[in-house]
Amino acid sequence: MHLEKKIAGEKAVEFIEDGMTIGLGTGSTVYWFIQKLGELVSKGLNVKGIPTSKNTEQLARSLGIPIVSFQEIDNIHVAIDGADEVDEKLNAIKGGGGALVREKIIAEFANQFIIVVDQSKCSKQLGNHFLPVEVTPFGWQGTANNIAAFGCEVKLRQVGNKTFISDNNNYILDCYFKKINDASLLHQRIKMLTGVVDTGLFIDLADMVIVGKGNETEIIK
Ligand code: 5RP
Repeated sequence: MHLEKKIAGEKAVEFIEDGMTIGLGTGSTVYWFIQKLGELVSKGLNVKGIPTSKNTEQLARSLGIPIVSFQEIDNIHVAIDGADEVDEKLNAIKGGGGALVREKIIAEFANQFIIVVDQSKCSKQLGNHFLPVEVTPFGWQGTANNIAAFGCEVKLRQVGNKTFISDNNNYILDCYFKKINDASLLHQRIKMLTGVVDTGLFIDLADMVIVGKGNETEIIK
């Protein structure tokens, strides 16, 4: 799995060109893309990165990748990010690392959105992985009850004995559904709830998925 993550992440640099502004995802698969990008930057590649999390910003800066913010750019040429689960239509569940809101803002704004995963993340129908949902801390218990009414068990994300706080100073509710029949409808219903910032369902956003399989990659479009 580790090798498949590395292979998938590194493959994504083939879609990078000089002059691009690149959305930099979060997690242990896109980590390999960012490492490779750092190598290319040190050899003279001229690109800018817009990070989806504080952790990624720190990593990119440590590798010498120039960082920009939304105020400084007109567009993002391509965003590369990992996922927790991807189906055959390239819909995904994201947010395992708690960065789903910034990840979705950047994925939606990018001209092209490429997901990098190892093959364990691929499934016919979304629902194997729990669904992360970012919510406001105020009234989170009420929001959690409203989400649970859609047929899942909801857990407030904890790190050790502390509540996880997102980069946007919100909470993450991890929602365990037995099965997700209609991911798009589920996303719409949850998103309609006051207190919900966004869900980890990324529907119709990805243009391509790079899957690490053994020593090779498969590209799904
Ligand atoms: C972070 C994410 C990650 O992309 C997702 O959790 C996959 O991570 P990894 O590549 O470490 O398995 O959505 O919010």
